[in-house]
Amino acid sequence: MSPRALPSVRFTDRLRGSPTFRRDPLAFLSRGRERYGDIFRFRTLGVPMVMVNHPDHIRRILVDKSAQYDKNAFLFKAVRPVLRTGLIANADTAQWRRQRRMMAPHFTPGAVGSFARNMTTETVKMLDRWERYPRDGRVIDAMDEFGRLALAIVNRSLFSADVSATAQDFERAFGVANSILAAFFRRPFPPLSVPTPGHRRLRRAIDAMDSFVSGFVQGRLRANADTDRDADQEPDLLTLLLHSVDEEDGSGMGLERLHHEVLNLCVGAYETTTNALCWAFHLLARHPDAEKRLHEEVDRVLGGRIPRFEDLPELAYTRMVVDETLRIYSPAYQFMRHASQDDEIAGYRIPAGSNMLINSYVLHRHPDFWDEPETFRPERFGAEETARRPRHAYIPFGSGQRVCIGRHFALTELTLVLATVARTHRLVLPADAPDVHPEALITLRPRGGMRLRLEHR
Ligand code: HEM
Repeated sequence: MSPRALPSVRFTDRLRGSPTFRRDPLAFLSRGRERYGDIFRFRTLGVPMVMVNHPDHIRRILVDKSAQYDKNAFLFKAVRPVLRTGLIANADTAQWRRQRRMMAPHFTPGAVGSFARNMTTETVKMLDRWERYPRDGRVIDAMDEFGRLALAIVNRSLFSADVSATAQDFERAFGVANSILAAFFRRPFPPLSVPTPGHRRLRRAIDAMDSFVSGFVQGRLRANADTDRDADQEPDLLTLLLHSVDEEDGSGMGLERLHHEVLNLCVGAYETTTNALCWAFHLLARHPDAEKRLHEEVDRVLGGRIPRFEDLPELAYTRMVVDETLRIYSPAYQFMRHASQDDEIAGYRIPAGSNMLINSYVLHRHPDFWDEPETFRPERFGAEETARRPRHAYIPFGSGQRVCIGRHFALTELTLVLATVARTHRLVLPADAPDVHPEALITLRPRGGMRLRLEHR
């Protein structure tokens, strides 16, 4: 049987008051799924999109046929002026593979174990900085605080860099770029070369992020020229990249590309982890039973001491809280692939050139795979329930060859930060706290920020 044409969101649906993708992508896609099922098409800004929302379709695109679904998609074209040739948006598969092969050894579970001490040390420093807050009743801006923490951890671990003096410049610039780039999906944009006020702001934000990275890359190059400091030290990722030579063609990485990779790691690690920490503490503050179970586990396993990498298997409930947070508020909630050739999925024709949209916010609420999807229930990540679900029903880090390189890093960091804080403190919602809703930018951040108050346990 020849493949059918995909069901398409009809104009009349919009007239019936359904939100558009541009105005509210999460509501639009959720309604689209209810009405049309796990695969349907729509257009936004004249660009044809195919929404796929079934684990089998997602496995086909990201794993089985990954070679024909590349990163020349609308979303990655939009973020490429910031990320350039780095891993995240690179659509040149040969170049991407070469870079990924060089970097992968620094991201294995074993390599990540050696960063665990940095993760807890930076968290304890943050708690020291917060020392007077419980007494003063001070409310923290959790995005700001966890942003500083996430940047400190990734830069200390991978590049041995102390970024405490410049972290805020990066955070501000990233915030500007995130909202300007997200607007690409809401209204037609002239090319970036046209100097509109928005484009000038984006240019300044990119320059600020570049200076942040150059600050420590150039510093390291000068230090290496002055001394032989790398000789007697464990090489960090920056040293490795500076000296990296491709095993196939013997060439090095080149300073420009190295700069892009470092920036991609900062961008990839920063907002995703920050958002995950904000949402995790927000969910715990709203679910005292889960918080109590977390405290019991942390007390039993740690007995008051700071967690170590070796404690992770014992911190099973803490890890379930992390997994459930990444299900409900998947920080990198939306990504795309470009179909480089015709295909057929579930009997439907997928024409070459389609932008395949994968939205984990909607997928992680699929009623066939999740009971009461809006309910925060970490226990659903217990071994038995997990084994009953298809692997691709849960993809906070993507899947296949382009799966997040930092996933072990992130899971280790999130679990250790949660346990380190929960040992001594809890974060509660301030009395006048408004409901917090997600804002679907390039990442899923809390709209209007997240305010939390610190208490001693
Ligand atoms: C909770 C934290 C994180 C989440 C939810 C997350 C999510 C993701 C997702 C979904 C992708 C795949 C996108 C796609 O297939 O198109 C990705 C890729 C990537 N992430 Fe993460 N990430 C997180 C943390 C990190 C960390 C800590 C780092 C670095 C230390 C990092 C660096 C990257 C890079 C470089 C890529 C591109 C990989 C490639 O294409 O080879 N991420 N991330």
